[in-house]
Amino acid sequence: MSRTLITGGTVITAADELADTVLDATGKYVIPGGVDGHTHMEMPFGGTVAADTFETGTRAAAWGGTTTIVDFAIQPRGGALREGLDAWHAKAEGTCAIDYAFHMIMSDVNPSSLKEMEVLVGEGVTSFKLFMAYPGVLYSDDGQVLRAMQRGAETGGLILMHAENGIAIDVLIEQALARGETDPRYHGIVRHELLEAEATHRAIKLAQVAGAPVYIVHLSAEKALAEVAKARDEGLNAFAETCPQYLFLSSDDLARPGFEGAKYVCSTPLRPREHQAALWRGLRTDDLSVVSTDHCPFCFKPQKEMGLGDFSKIPNGLPGVEHRMDLLHQGVVEGHLSRRRWIEIACATPARMFGLYPRKGTIAPGSDADVVIYDPAARQTLSAATHHMAVDYSCYEGKEITGRVETVLSRGRVIVDGGGYRGRAGDGRFQQRATCQYLR
Ligand code: URP
Ligand code: ZN
Ligand code: ZN
Repeated sequence: MSRTLITGGTVITAADELADTVLDATGKYVIPGGVDGHTHMEMPFGGTVAADTFETGTRAAAWGGTTTIVDFAIQPRGGALREGLDAWHAKAEGTCAIDYAFHMIMSDVNPSSLKEMEVLVGEGVTSFKLFMAYPGVLYSDDGQVLRAMQRGAETGGLILMHAENGIAIDVLIEQALARGETDPRYHGIVRHELLEAEATHRAIKLAQVAGAPVYIVHLSAEKALAEVAKARDEGLNAFAETCPQYLFLSSDDLARPGFEGAKYVCSTPLRPREHQAALWRGLRTDDLSVVSTDHCPFCFKPQKEMGLGDFSKIPNGLPGVEHRMDLLHQGVVEGHLSRRRWIEIACATPARMFGLYPRKGTIAPGSDADVVIYDPAARQTLSAATHHMAVDYSCYEGKEITGRVETVLSRGRVIVDGGGYRGRAGDGRFQQRATCQYLR
């Protein structure tokens, strides 16, 4: 059995900073591998399929210091949860560079799928995403949401919510297109911030009625955050994540000239830049507990171009799995976060939220040795020319940041080192998860 000794660095976990230990990575940080709780590798969506496979997407994640992802398996409409889960296991098995787990998207809440939830929880798939958006595709009505939440409360399954009022949004899309408003920037306008706030409020109230916890995914609007903060002040088990794109990008990007804005189409949409300060504040106050990527990449050519002349046909989603640790470190550099909070929101809390702690999310005896040596002083320029995601553009093209992953260990084995990838497809193992470790 081989052993790896790291010497001389500053160990940062969410709990401690242990300087002057026996570790030696002089001038570097020794941090837990990142846990990205929200990815969509090779997801079929919007008439196409997300560009990163489990192989390319997890390799890119490894390059960026993420050593575990939780991806979303999808129940086919009219089919069983089991069918969706088996299909996702088949895609991921033997291909991943890092460890992986699954949430389950429920696109058809019915007596049979509600019954299946318990079986999935028993297999370590302990969270279920519902959509208040995308009528006719992934949408659940309020009755279905309530029933799934009640079942979540019974089984220990955590409900993750895509909180946007999709019925109202579809009306606004139709009206915008009828006025000839077809450019990508209208995507941000029709997906109105109040329709995110309203859905967030409704999700929280339905969860309260069901006696269930709820976790709001990809929160982008200040008013939606206010709903989460209010619920948390009332002592409810309401949690939320945001994503780097909402912290660093804005509706100005959606309004870039020509069709460039299509590169920034995701849902919930990018908001005016004034929202960013509120999101950073929410991360500091813990009203936002986690930063995930919602990695769902579509190439500009030909995928995003499917929406030329009709913004509603642009596949929704952004690439990002490779840059979460770096962009959040940039948040440390710019004074938005402490170093420990960086590790908390990127490693420890997602691991706890999704039942992976302390195996993942920290450095401790008994934990998997998923460890990153991070150079906090290195400078890098983000670009599609150098990133490892299988997508033909970067949302952050030309952005200069401070900090860079140097070495990555997955379960004690070096998989990225000295500018090279040392792992193999299939290194990553499926992780059965416990239930959410934050319930009060
Ligand atoms: O635009 C997004 N977020 N695409 C991925 C699917 C989802 O809703 O998370
Ligand atoms: Zn979503
Ligand atoms: Zn998503």
